[in-house]
Amino acid sequence: MKTLKCVGLLAALLAGSQSFAAPERIGDFNLIDETGRAHQLSKFGYQKALVVISQANSCSTSQELFSEYKILETKWDNEQISFVMMNSSINDDVEAVRRFKNSYNPDMPILMDDTQLVAESLGITKAGEIVVLDPNNMTILYRGPLDTPGARGEPGTTFLRETFDAIAAGEIGRDTETVSVDFEAAPGCALEFPAKVTSADDVPDYETEVAPVLIENCVGCHIEGGIGPFAMNSHQMVQGWSPMMREVIMTKRMPPMQVDPTIRSFENARTLSVEDTQTLIHWINAGAPRE
Ligand code: HEC
Repeated sequence: MKTLKCVGLLAALLAGSQSFAAPERIGDFNLIDETGRAHQLSKFGYQKALVVISQANSCSTSQELFSEYKILETKWDNEQISFVMMNSSINDDVEAVRRFKNSYNPDMPILMDDTQLVAESLGITKAGEIVVLDPNNMTILYRGPLDTPGARGEPGTTFLRETFDAIAAGEIGRDTETVSVDFEAAPGCALEFPAKVTSADDVPDYETEVAPVLIENCVGCHIEGGIGPFAMNSHQMVQGWSPMMREVIMTKRMPPMQVDPTIRSFENARTLSVEDTQTLIHWINAGAPRE
C-alpha cells in the first residue's frame, strides 16, 4: 500500500491523469477461452496476480503491442503473475477469435467475454486496456494502459510495471488501493456496449423481462419441493438470493452442467443465452427492484 501510494503522488504531479481510490472489490467470474477451457478468477489464488489484457480482433493498435505483452509475461511469469487476454467485442465470435489467435499467435489464452459483463465489472472501455487483478483479495490493483506517455518531453511513466514490482515484493494486501490510469490518450480501440445499463430506464423490468428468464431457466429446480435449495416463488425471495444468484451466474455454476456449446454438447446441458445473462445481471446490479 505504501509503495503504491508514493507512485500515486508522483503520478498526480507528473500527469494529473491517474487516480487512487479505495480498493475496488470485484466478484468472481468464470470465462471460457477460445479452445473451450474455463478460467475462473478465484482459481488463480495460487498466483499473486492475474493480468487481463482487453483485446479485439479489429484493433491493430493493440496488436502492435503483442511483443511487449510477451516481454512482460516472460519477465513476470516467474513471479507468479499470470497473463490472459479477454475479448469483449460484440463483433468477434469464438470462431473469429480462434482464427485471430492462429494468425497473430499472442501466446496467451483469449477469454470470451461474450456477455461483456466482465468488462463492465472491471471498468474496461477499450481494447488495449490492461487490468491487474488480485485473485486472493478479489480486488483491482491496476487499470490503464501499458505505459503512460510523459508530459512535455518528460520520460513516460510505467505505473503498470511499478504495480508488478509491488506485487513481486509482496506489498499487496486487502487494502491496497486501485491504481487507475486515464486511458483516453493511450493506444487502443473503444468497445461498444449496446446492452449496458446507463440510466434507470434501461434496468430490466422484473415482471416482463426477469421473471420469464427465471421461469425458463431456473424455476424448474428452484420451486417448492424441487431439487434447488430455495424456491424462486416471490420477488422477495429472488431479491434476497440475488447476490448469490449473480455469483453462480458469473461463475457459470448455474444453471448446472454447463459446457461450451461450440466444443461439445451434452443432451441436457443448459446455458443461459447472452441476452438472458445480461438481463439477470443488469437487474441484480441495479438492486433487483420490484419495478
Ligand atoms: C437442474 C436443476 C437446477 C437448475 C435448472 C438451476 N438450479 Fe440453482 N441449484 C440447483 C441445486 C441442486 C443447487 C444446490 C447445489 C449447488 O449449489 O450446486 C442449486 C443452488 C443454487 C444457488 C445457491 C448456491 C449456493 O452456493 O448456495 C443459487 C443462488 C442458484 N442455484 C441459482 C440458480 C439460478 C439463478 C438458476 C437459473 C439461471 C438456477 N439456479 C438453475 C439446481 C438447479
